[in-house]
Amino acid sequence: MTRRAIYPGSFDPITNGHLDIIERSANMFDEVIVAVLVNDGKDPMFSLEERVEMIRAVSRWSNVRVGTFEGLLVQYAVEQGAQVIVRGIRAVSDYEYELQMALMNRRLEPRVETVFMMSAEAYSYLSSRLIKEVFKLGGSISGLVPPDVEQRMKQRFPS
Ligand SMILES: Nc1ncnc2c1ncn2[C@@H]1O[C@H](COP(=O)(O)OP(=O)(O)O)[C@@H](O)[C@H]1O
Ligand SMILES: [Mg+2]
Repeated sequence: MTRRAIYPGSFDPITNGHLDIIERSANMFDEVIVAVLVNDGKDPMFSLEERVEMIRAVSRWSNVRVGTFEGLLVQYAVEQGAQVIVRGIRAVSDYEYELQMALMNRRLEPRVETVFMMSAEAYSYLSSRLIKEVFKLGGSISGLVPPDVEQRMKQRFPS
């Protein structure tokens, strides 16, 4: 059986923390689908298409592909033939919300298992939100996002 995992998120934009989780997932599962959430209600910095493009540009694993989804994640997982949802955990603060979602998703679809992964320590404080804040205030984000992403942010918001 093909072990297929979905790694869902907003990815606005993708960071080195996300990439670390993608790499760990690619090593662990036969196939990984990075799934960008279509309507997440947050006012995004990058459009859905831009976020997908950036992930494609920096994802260098042959068993990783990028998709988009709206509606119920577990429904998308079943449609894609995925048995696993991957989520990243940074600190205890992520845990409560992630636990709620995982248990709700299990109730909705017991066949899909949620797996939590920890990124490398160096990325454990990284979030897309913080990256955007620091960047907008003129701080350096180099080493925290892929160079392609940094380039795009500079093009979008020239200082
Ligand atoms: N630096 C990081 N280390 C580990 N996991 C991370 C990191 N940044 C984000 N994640 C995880 O990646 C997933 C997608 O994150 P994100 O793009 O913020 O989407 P969401 O809006 O679903 O939180 C989440 O499980 C999040 O906890
Ligand atoms: Mg988040």
